[in-house]
This record gives sequence, structure tokens and C-alpha cells, in this order.
Amino acid sequence: RKPLSLFRLREMQASGEKIAMLTCYDASFARVLDEAGVDCLLVGDSLGMVLQGQASTVPVTLDEVAYHTRCVARGNRTAWLIADLPFGSYQANREQALASSVALMQAGAQMVKLEGGGWTAETVRFLTERGIPVCAHLGLTPQSVFALGGYRVQGRSDEGAAKLRAQARELADAGAAMLVLELVPAPLAARVSTENPQLLTIGIGAGTACAGQVLVLHDMLGITRGKLPRFVRNFMAEAHDVEAAVRLYVSEVKAGRFPHPEHHSY
Ligand code: KIV
Ligand code: NA
Repeated sequence: RKPLSLFRLREMQASGEKIAMLTCYDASFARVLDEAGVDCLLVGDSLGMVLQGQASTVPVTLDEVAYHTRCVARGNRTAWLIADLPFGSYQANREQALASSVALMQAGAQMVKLEGGGWTAETVRFLTERGIPVCAHLGLTPQSVFALGGYRVQGRSDEGAAKLRAQARELADAGAAMLVLELVPAPLAARVSTENPQLLTIGIGAGTACAGQVLVLHDMLGITRGKLPRFVRNFMAEAHDVEAAVRLYVSEVKAGRFPHPEHHSY
């Protein structure tokens, strides 16, 4: 497979081929995921919970994301590599966001992701004008979990939905290339996707209409303990090894069978 690029991801969107993304934190999994056909790897700040055992993503530092990005970059050959800007690494001002993004790009990321809408549009413009592809993230934004009052579905009210749509538009206008929509009602995610064809929308608990899907690796491999969100499916339960589970995820996303319209959306 040739290395994925933004150009290729946009071609996939235009032709209706779904984009399969998973989180990834180390070289060994990067190798397996890349060879199994995962289009995009996300070095998510979920590493705080998944790898470090933290209660939220808030304690994760820029150095930690950069370290895991270097690990993933060494194992990856063709997947598009995205790294999360962690809490506190981009909120202060545009210059801080640029310096943090440079650190992640130099660690091997091809795109950085930041959470939130409104004030972030100015940051997104600043970064994209300087050659850094940006993925935005709306809906349930885990770095704001304490402000949001828990891990709950966002954009349920008319007011909340209108706000999310306006923020998505602003982020698209500011030059964001990709947008993760987490825990939002499926019809709202569908509407944001059709209203902003220049955005590659990636859903997680957001229905089937987005250009692609993402899950946390350890969730879809059945490793995560405790109560899992309803949108998670354990692909390892249906496969004989990790690579087969990942291949099944990719094929289910590409076929539009994951998420299941009834069971995995709100
Ligand atoms: O950190 C993460 O894993 C994420 C995805 C769930 C989108 O941001
Ligand atoms: Na994240």
C-alpha cells in the first residue's frame, strides 16, 4: 500500500470509501495496524487512561504524547499519523499551540488534533497557515470532562446542536482538514458531515454517516476493564488473533456495518 496522504483521504471520502482509524501508542501495534489496513493511527491522549491508568486524559503531558508518537512512527509505514495535543499544550495562545504542534510533528506526526470549538478556530487557522494539518474534535471532549460534568452525549438539545454545527463550520472555515465527532446524536453528525464537505468527519459514538470511524485500540480488543461505552464493540471476540480482529474492524467500517445503526449510535 502507498502511504496515505490528505489527498488520498479526500479521494476516499469523495468515492464513499470509509476511513478506518484506531488509536495506537507503540511501534509493535503500529506495525500490526498498518499491515492490517488501518488508514489512520491516532496517538490519542487516551494513553493516559489506557497505558498509564489515570482517571482522565487531563494529566497527560506533551512530552508523553511526543514519546509515544516517536514509538508509533517507527512501527508505522503507510498509515496517516495523527497525534493529540494534550491538555494545557495549546490553550494558552497560538504560539504555544504552534510550539507544541512542532514538537509532535518532529516526533513523526503528520497532523495534530485539538479539542473544542469557538476559540480554537483562531488557533486552527494559525497552525494550518503554517503548514500543520489540523484535526478538530467536537462533542464529548474528554479534556473538558470536569467542565462538561461527565462522559455524556453532547448536542442533544436544539441549542446544543446549533452550537456544535456553528463551531464545525468555523473550524472548517479556519482550515481544519479533519473533525472527530465524539458522542453526538447520529442525525447531528450526519448533518455536520453533509454541511462541511471539506471536513473529513470521523465518528466515535456518532452514527454511521461520518467519512470514517475511530475507536480506542484497547477497547476494540477487549482489554479495557470496567463499564465500556455503548458504541464499543469487542472485535477480538470474533477473531483468532489481534491482526484478524483489526482486519475485521477495517472491513466492518469499510462495509458500513460498524457502527451498527441501531446499537452503536445515539
Ligand atoms: O484520545 C483518544 O483516544 C481520542 C479518540 C477517542 C478520538 O481522542
Ligand atoms: Na484524545
